[in-house]
Amino acid sequence: MNGQPDSAVLEMLVELACRAPSVHNSQPWRWTYSAHGLDLYTDRSRLLGVIDPTERQMVMSCGAALDHLHKAAAAFRWTADIDVLPTPGAPDHLARIRFAHDAHPRSHEFDLLAAINRRHSDRRAFGAVSAGRDLTKYVGRDTHGVELTVLSAESTQTLAKASMLSASIRKYDATYQAEIRWWAGHSFRSGGIPPEALTDHADASRVRVGRQFPEPHRVARVLAQEPVEDEATVVLLGTESDDRLDWLNCGRAMSSFLLAATADGLATCPLTHMTEQSGSRQLVESLTPRGGVAQVLIRVGTAMIGSPPPRTPRHPVASVLSVPVPARVVNRNRS
Ligand SMILES: Cc1cc2nc3c(=O)[nH]c(=O)nc-3n(C[C@H](O)[C@H](O)[C@H](O)COP(=O)(O)O)c2cc1C
Repeated sequence: MNGQPDSAVLEMLVELACRAPSVHNSQPWRWTYSAHGLDLYTDRSRLLGVIDPTERQMVMSCGAALDHLHKAAAAFRWTADIDVLPTPGAPDHLARIRFAHDAHPRSHEFDLLAAINRRHSDRRAFGAVSAGRDLTKYVGRDTHGVELTVLSAESTQTLAKASMLSASIRKYDATYQAEIRWWAGHSFRSGGIPPEALTDHADASRVRVGRQFPEPHRVARVLAQEPVEDEATVVLLGTESDDRLDWLNCGRAMSSFLLAATADGLATCPLTHMTEQSGSRQLVESLTPRGGVAQVLIRVGTAMIGSPPPRTPRHPVASVLSVPVPARVVNRNRS
């Protein structure tokens, strides 16, 4: 591993990468560390077969983890040189990362590192983003071809329509309902969305563009004064085409946006229910002047008063990262 981080540093970086958001907290990634560098693969055993049959959201989730890794490494002075889809014919092999210990982090990189630990998906109603904030700068300079559109307040009607359309199609879809009940609203070892991260129906109904989850037994209560309407801004990330590279890059851009917004004190929540089916996806796409393929929407705004839900759990890093076992030291003096 000449010039590469030692395994303790590497484990810390991968642990930070795994704080990334993933569809229904499925954490569909695997990492291996070898003389070639750090490799990122999808973990197909964690694919949501009904919600995500094409693997789009699985790859986007891994893209978010890749960007988290890149940002975490920079704060520890490592430049991560990323080669995407490096093995022709092996679509699960999403990236190979080589490190150089030559980064010069400034305060923004440390803010992003802190944001990795603070960010969470907030499904409660938000206050408005203050006027004059430029949300387009949150994806950074290198968007890898992903387009960000800040949707106007008038678009909310269309989004609410798309959201309702998606919910009404899903309502009687028994396989979808079974899958979402498996992943959301109950605690099981470090996977899925825990009940504390969901809202009850009263709170959820204020957010007209949110995904409908099963109502959990224990819920995050909004300690706001009075019932509030959601005043979130919604941004759309879209791509020109709709292939694996677009999904990976979209996940990276989503992560950039979420971390920069968190560092700027804003609350966020990714939304994909409106881009899972053609009808609602077309409605969303009608809102962008440039056209293109709608991938993910992000609600962004000011968090309501009240403590945020606890951090969602993650698998232990040892269960998602393989590192070579160091060669055994043989003590020649022992018989
Ligand atoms: C590709 C993708 C799609 C997601 N779709 C939704 C969604 O439709 N609705 C929602 O409330 N959260 C959605 N999320 C957020 C995840 O549920 C969340 O990241 C996961 O539960 C981990 O929690 P955390 O973000 O608080 O760390 C999505 C996240 C990703 C990466």
